Amino acid sequence: MNEAEGTAGWTSPLRIRRGPRWNEQRPTWREAKPALIADALKRASARPSGNWFVVGASRDVVGGRPHGRTVAGVEVVLWRTGTGALRAGPGACPHLGAPLRDSRVVCGTLLCHWHGLALDGGPFAGWEPFPVHDDGVLVWVRLDGAGGEEPLERPVVPPRPVPGGAVDAVFTAVGRCEPEDVVANRLDPWHGSWFHPYSFVDLRVVDAPRGDARDAFAVEVSFRVAGRLVVPVRAEFTAPGPRTVVMRITEGEGVGSVVETHATPLTAPASARPRTAVVEAVVAASDRRGFALARAAAPLLRPLVRRTAGRLWRDDLAYAERRWELRGSGRFPG
Ligand code: FES
Ligand SMILES: [Fe+2]
Repeated sequence: MNEAEGTAGWTSPLRIRRGPRWNEQRPTWREAKPALIADALKRASARPSGNWFVVGASRDVVGGRPHGRTVAGVEVVLWRTGTGALRAGPGACPHLGAPLRDSRVVCGTLLCHWHGLALDGGPFAGWEPFPVHDDGVLVWVRLDGAGGEEPLERPVVPPRPVPGGAVDAVFTAVGRCEPEDVVANRLDPWHGSWFHPYSFVDLRVVDAPRGDARDAFAVEVSFRVAGRLVVPVRAEFTAPGPRTVVMRITEGEGVGSVVETHATPLTAPASARPRTAVVEAVVAASDRRGFALARAAAPLLRPLVRRTAGRLWRDDLAYAERRWELRGSGRFPG
């Protein structure tokens, strides 16, 4: 039996696949052409972001206390008003510079903990708010000074499964590299089953981008769930913006589910010691009956998804950091 069959009309998405030994896999380096990856990266970098940067998970910005983050060298504070609306602005108090991330939110107003200056989110005493957007999964802030592009009214949010019918989880990690190194890692799907054999079996890149309108990598891969149990899918990678790569499942279990990887610079552009946050949102959907149960169990599933993403990103950040090091020393091939 090479399928884990269920009963009563229910078919398990799981398959049993042994896969080749690690060292007996088909090498992928001939297809993973440095110039092809570099061209895909160049096209991604040229797409507009409208100066929007992902800050983190929506659910991490809660009422009652401020949330602080440095983005592209700019200290940002975010908070929610009494109605749950999002506010954002510079993280230093306009009076004597107190770190507003450590202040308090009282009835939706940010109250500085040094001398009690109150900010309701509107301009005040030289403090100018930043445009902010909550897409329901992620929070974005627009920094026109740091972005240097033509501002857009709204960020480019990739299409996702309908909220309420999906389970989402957000994972964040930080690496010593620039956003382009994170994006370049994601635009090299060929490393999948070589570099992450604990997660991927038999990864095959079946279509590579040609700079056309779709500009996508298509892969066939089996996700390793445990031991020899795998879930085979077909997925597509696209880069809708200069700092975003989206993997969308196009065939197999969870069609329409997306993994959005956002690379947010923490340091100012051209920093000598750059740091970049990887903010990865997994928005999973399925029309299986059991999925309603999974939705109900979402608080339990989230740490699991984060643990899986954490393991992958430990390795992928090592790849991105290595790429940055080699670029800095002029030793990067391609
Ligand atoms: S530093 Fe914030 S009120 Fe004085
Ligand atoms: Fe990877």
